[in-house]
Amino acid sequence: MTGLHDDKILILDFGSQYTQLIARRVREAGVYCEIYPWDIDIERIREFGAKGFILSGGPESTLDDAKPEVPLVLFELGLPILGICYGMQAMAQQLGGRVENVGKSEFGYARVRARGHTALLRDIQDEVNDEGHGLLDVWMSHGDRVAELPTGFKLMASTESAPIAGIADEERKIYGLQFHPEVTHTKQGVAIYQRFLHQICGCGSEWNPHNIVEASIAEVRARVGDGHVILGLSGGVDSSVVAALLHEAIDDQLCCIFVDNGLLRYREGDHVMEQFAEHMGVNVIRIDAEDRFLDKLEGLTDPEDKRKAIGNLFIEIFEEEARKHNDADFLAQGTIYPDVIESAGATTGKAHLIKSHHNVGGLPADMRLKLVEPLRELFKDEVRRVGVELGLPHDMVYRHPFPGPGLGVRILGEVRKEYADTLRLADDIFINELRAHDLYDRVSQAFVVFLPVKSVGVTGDGRRYNYVVSLRAVETIDFMTARWADLPYDFLDHVSRRIMNEIEAIARVVYDISGKPPGTIEWE
Ligand code: XMP
Repeated sequence: MTGLHDDKILILDFGSQYTQLIARRVREAGVYCEIYPWDIDIERIREFGAKGFILSGGPESTLDDAKPEVPLVLFELGLPILGICYGMQAMAQQLGGRVENVGKSEFGYARVRARGHTALLRDIQDEVNDEGHGLLDVWMSHGDRVAELPTGFKLMASTESAPIAGIADEERKIYGLQFHPEVTHTKQGVAIYQRFLHQICGCGSEWNPHNIVEASIAEVRARVGDGHVILGLSGGVDSSVVAALLHEAIDDQLCCIFVDNGLLRYREGDHVMEQFAEHMGVNVIRIDAEDRFLDKLEGLTDPEDKRKAIGNLFIEIFEEEARKHNDADFLAQGTIYPDVIESAGATTGKAHLIKSHHNVGGLPADMRLKLVEPLRELFKDEVRRVGVELGLPHDMVYRHPFPGPGLGVRILGEVRKEYADTLRLADDIFINELRAHDLYDRVSQAFVVFLPVKSVGVTGDGRRYNYVVSLRAVETIDFMTARWADLPYDFLDHVSRRIMNEIEAIARVVYDISGKPPGTIEWE
């Protein structure tokens, strides 16, 4: 066995916007970790079997009465702890130090002087000053600061505005940093995490795509035995990686159901079949349901009604098909770790950000099938690396996200086949040109939106009176906020010309320059 989960770290979340980033840095260093809310049952903390703990930052102040606290069991376990920002302040206060608020917040770059030659920061520096002190360029984001060291701690780092910017109790291997090593602006952040994980906690680096694939295959085989699995394949990254993984693990015990709802991108259904059925030999059944979806959508103009209609019909069709496979024992799903964290947060009421949309509206309640969710532990970037490891094409694995309701929310108002066909052609031109100009990977999501209004144009000697489309391209890290992408004018000009010259039904092309907020990424 690979021992993928032998060395693991538990991250306690105090509500920082960077908590998932901490987890990704830990995983990138080859160490498995999970995120629990700070007030999780202490038995769960004991059972987890961590080799060390990381306490995240958070929006709260330790000076408030109702402040989140570090569970005392952490100090009893005698394992290494790294507290970041709020995590350091809470720890400092609980261990006998003092936190203060001098009314000055600090956000952004700062230069920290490392002190005391601690095991955490020794020889990690961006520069050395004339007196021989190591200096680090870091990212700060805090209001309160530690004013007095807790008992047994020494000073590890300082800045002008936070004289106590790092603390260490080397005997107990407890460290605190006021700055954020998980943010890429902290240049030595990766080195600091590696030091903590490998040297201080003694973790190896088993967590990598090759080992993840090997372990997942073994796990799926053990769980499924000679049972049969069905999977709803959408062509998106997550379900594609699940299909590839299960195919590798259980071959023809897997049956994929691909519902073509008529709201997919240009030739997408054919591509899915080519890749999975022809190329990889995966057992895929394609259900051509365009007519059923278009019928259901007739007369619907409200975006939420459209979403519901598409989601419900998808489940209905998927269930019909699933029933035909009455030998199936398992249903596979592409659930990934952020979904798990979000739904855990939703049950405890602690999620700071709750996504309002879900791909297909969840599982039918009366499904007797058992679940197989091989991506449950993975972040999106890990899913992609696993996809590449399994031999899926780069283009497929690094595709922009595509919403569950597909073109249904990119055709404003009522959805008609004529609109969808026109939109597919325009979208294909835009995407192909982005790829041809090496711009595709520079934007986070790009697509075309169909506006069912007519505008006047002129072609040759004739007058044209036809539809409008908008190009949309955004840059974003988390899709919760986004900037419109600053694409070169020449490029936009070229795309616009191609669309208007090649697609009769389009008389005008516009570019969407709305940010999120106040806009959303999709138009509906
Ligand atoms: P918005 O439009 O809310 O989009 O800024 C944020 C991200 O979510 C995607 N999106 C959806 N995904 N079902 C989905 O599976 C939906 O109903 C849906 N609506 C928006 C959108 O494409 C973007 O990536």
